[in-house]
Amino acid sequence: MSLIEVRNLSKEYFIAKRQEGMWGAVRSLFHREYITKSAVHDVSFSIEAGEVVGYIGPNGAGKSTTIKMLTGILVPTSGEVHVRGLIPYKERQKNARQIGAVFGQRSQLWWDLPTIESFELLKQVYYISEEQYRKNMDTFAEILGLHEFYQTPVRQLSLGQRMRADIAASLLHNPSILFLDEPTIGLDVVAKERMRTFIQEMNKERGITVILTTHDMSDIEKLCKRMILIDQGRVMYDGGLSTIKDHFGKTRILVVDLEQDRPDLRIEGAELIREEGPRKWLRFNREEFTAAQIIQKVSERAEIMDLSLEEPEIDSIIRQMYQEGYENKKANPSV
Ligand SMILES: Nc1ncnc2c1ncn2[C@@H]1O[C@H](COP(=O)(O)OP(=O)(O)O)[C@@H](O)[C@H]1O
Ligand SMILES: [Mg+2]
Repeated sequence: MSLIEVRNLSKEYFIAKRQEGMWGAVRSLFHREYITKSAVHDVSFSIEAGEVVGYIGPNGAGKSTTIKMLTGILVPTSGEVHVRGLIPYKERQKNARQIGAVFGQRSQLWWDLPTIESFELLKQVYYISEEQYRKNMDTFAEILGLHEFYQTPVRQLSLGQRMRADIAASLLHNPSILFLDEPTIGLDVVAKERMRTFIQEMNKERGITVILTTHDMSDIEKLCKRMILIDQGRVMYDGGLSTIKDHFGKTRILVVDLEQDRPDLRIEGAELIREEGPRKWLRFNREEFTAAQIIQKVSERAEIMDLSLEEPEIDSIIRQMYQEGYENKKANPSV
């Protein structure tokens, strides 16, 4: 059995339907109508020890709902979840000892206490030995720069500081699995980088398995070899980052510096997507033309001083996948 096993997992929310008007309100007292919202639908995957997996999708795709079922906060409507052999919602306490979890939107720390006191409380809650506590605090404080705000109440921390404190708190009890739900949401570039470096370090040094949700593709490029893409509660892709680029990244961009500007440059089979004087960005489909063919065509019109090829950004590939919907699923043998 893999470290994490998810089989045909589904979650439906039942939402009480609001009835209009006074009679509606009265009727609701006796008879409530519910509508069901399918948040996660027939999701399956397995994750091995030591992996860092990105769980990706647009808002409302079902990311948080999945993570909540993995941590035991939510009970699945159907299907199975096993985390190191445990069924999270049935053995929530036991599961809590082997996992760490950070929810970007909500802190697990005590709002009114100086930050350091939250750590000390967690030490008690998890029966963490003095030695382990010291060792972890030293390591985390150094990489995450926690000292600077130990005495500040959590409510006064900046978002970046709060996230750093939260991720450190989630690892105090030495869990082997870490769930991060939008760990970089709202952070500036520097703070994001700090979080990513820390996550990477914990995976490398301690072999912690990491599952993180995000809609920031640069998180994935930095951290994850594998990603699971979901849309409307369904898995639409599960595989490597490079595979997705090969499968779906059909466009390339040729950047050329011309010796002299050619404002009227038109190349058959390529689209001029940007220009800055004599520098032109030409996008073409690599299944229709090779880069050499496009270069050849350009050089027939103008003298090329310099050139380079750009791969499409993973963002734009994924946007395209979502737009084209499930058609692409068929093109991917691993799903
Ligand atoms: N407690 C809830 N009650 C009803 N619907 C919910 C609840 N939580 C989430 N949803 C709905 O379930 C879907 C998936 O939500 P969520 O898992 O939070 O998505 P994500 O984290 O990918 O943004 C959304 O349509 C959301 O509106
Ligand atoms: Mg969410």
